[in-house]
Amino acid sequence: MFKEFYFRNWFWFHPIRRWEYGFLKSMVSGKFLDAGCGNGAITLALSARTLETCAVDVSDVAIATAEKYNNPGEKIAYGIMDLKKLGFPDCSFDSVACVSVIGQCSGFKDEVVSELLRVTKPGGTVFVSALSRYVDALKVLDDGRFEVSRFYALKGRVARELFDFFMAYRDWRTLFSIVFFPLFWLDQLLIKGKGETCVLLIRKKGVVG
Ligand SMILES: C[S@@+](CC[C@H](N)C(=O)[O-])C[C@H]1O[C@@H](n2cnc3c(N)ncnc32)[C@H](O)[C@@H]1O
Repeated sequence: MFKEFYFRNWFWFHPIRRWEYGFLKSMVSGKFLDAGCGNGAITLALSARTLETCAVDVSDVAIATAEKYNNPGEKIAYGIMDLKKLGFPDCSFDSVACVSVIGQCSGFKDEVVSELLRVTKPGGTVFVSALSRYVDALKVLDDGRFEVSRFYALKGRVARELFDFFMAYRDWRTLFSIVFFPLFWLDQLLIKGKGETCVLLIRKKGVVG
């Protein structure tokens, strides 16, 4: 019971995920892909706004957790997939989210973004978020086919880095995150400077099909 509540709701207490969720809830529509979905909490919350939801992650443990706690009525098609090579045809999705994943894709970030854009329909939007330094390092194709907007906000670097490190889907993650959420909020208040976190919205030009 506690675990179910936790795995469904943790992100509401996480200041960075809440900020990201503000973007996500207004951009997801139609057929939606959550790329690197983790335990599926955000996937489930967003699925109420979509016609169809697919969610993939390279971790079998994350997908098993998502299936167990975040797939009521089996509405969401979860699958184990590497973002380097998605098993979906071109132009499959109206909206794609990649929340806090790109920082873990060192050496192949651009390949991942190209793959996300490949599976997005013309007129559709890709959301990529992570620490600014990972997102700024992306060479998003700038050949006139895409409209790119960047949004910087929230500090929280220290707590976020530690949290992402410890949340690598280990068994004691629940306990750990309970300790970390207050630290996150403190981090937001105490650390000076701005824009440690970045959201990139890439719209693939064209008529929404
Ligand atoms: C910090 S978690 C974020 C999970 C989820 N998006 C969220 O916001 O709760 C990063 C996730 O990216 C996944 N990941 C890392 N590299 C990946 C890759 N190459 N392909 C698919 N998933 C990947 C990890 O397994 C992990 O579940």
